[in-house]
Amino acid sequence: MIVLSANFRSSAVSAATASTSTHGPTRFSATAPVSEVPKTATYTRAYAESNGFLTLLSDGERLTGLEIDLFFLLLSVAGNETTRNLISHGMVALLEHPEQLERIRKDRSLVPGAVEEMLRWASPVMHFRRTAMTDFELGGQQISAGDKVVIWYISANYDDKVFDDPYTFDVKRTPNEHVAFGGGGPHFCLGANLARMEINVMFEEVLDRLDNIEMTGPVSRLRSNFINGLKHIPLKFDVRR
Ligand code: HEM
Repeated sequence: MIVLSANFRSSAVSAATASTSTHGPTRFSATAPVSEVPKTATYTRAYAESNGFLTLLSDGERLTGLEIDLFFLLLSVAGNETTRNLISHGMVALLEHPEQLERIRKDRSLVPGAVEEMLRWASPVMHFRRTAMTDFELGGQQISAGDKVVIWYISANYDDKVFDDPYTFDVKRTPNEHVAFGGGGPHFCLGANLARMEINVMFEEVLDRLDNIEMTGPVSRLRSNFINGLKHIPLKFDVRR
């Protein structure tokens, strides 16, 4: 567990948000977010070094200052844009499928499965591009070492060869071998368990505290080919006393 100062939190989150929340096609700026981080990473680095955290991360090799800064920027972006957009999509999915919301209200043991279905349904990270290390044939397509390959997780999560009725949102879907966190290779999402916990806690709290949740207008979406994001969901609800 890393305790972050309020300063670190606010500037890391704005740096993360700046890197993905754009009105145009996804745009990454190497300078804008990174320039924010050194101001804030000093505290974090001192804390992490004093706790042996960085040694653990680097398996005994020291990371350079820039690597540490970039790593914390990665954590801020990867942990922020993904989980909060998943929660937004999950909320909309439940409101658009009220019978599914009713199911999890009646039987809380269904919440973890519902979260897996939200992950499949929303696929907050839509794609990543990787570089092939070896020649390989995939689905009849020849890939050569060095080729850039784009993996569309969101497409795989709606593959009707893998999922029955992929366009049906089903909180009881089983099996649910989605690839929202990647396909299990060496770059499999480092934060998958943290994200699952956060999302489960969030929906448990929503079910505990909010009644009569309704969308009062259309959602507005983030225009991006990378993050499947929602910018606004107009909602009304009653807070349970
Ligand atoms: C709903 C939430 C999340 C989704 C959908 C998601 C999705 C992904 C995906 C698709 C990848 C690439 C996997 C691959 O190439 O095999 C990834 C990598 C990564 N994620 Fe997440 N992620 C989420 C939450 C988080 C959180 C909470 C953190 C940390 C606080 C995090 C940290 C990372 C990091 C550091 C990587 C790079 C791992 C590497 O390259 O070795 N993610 N994530």
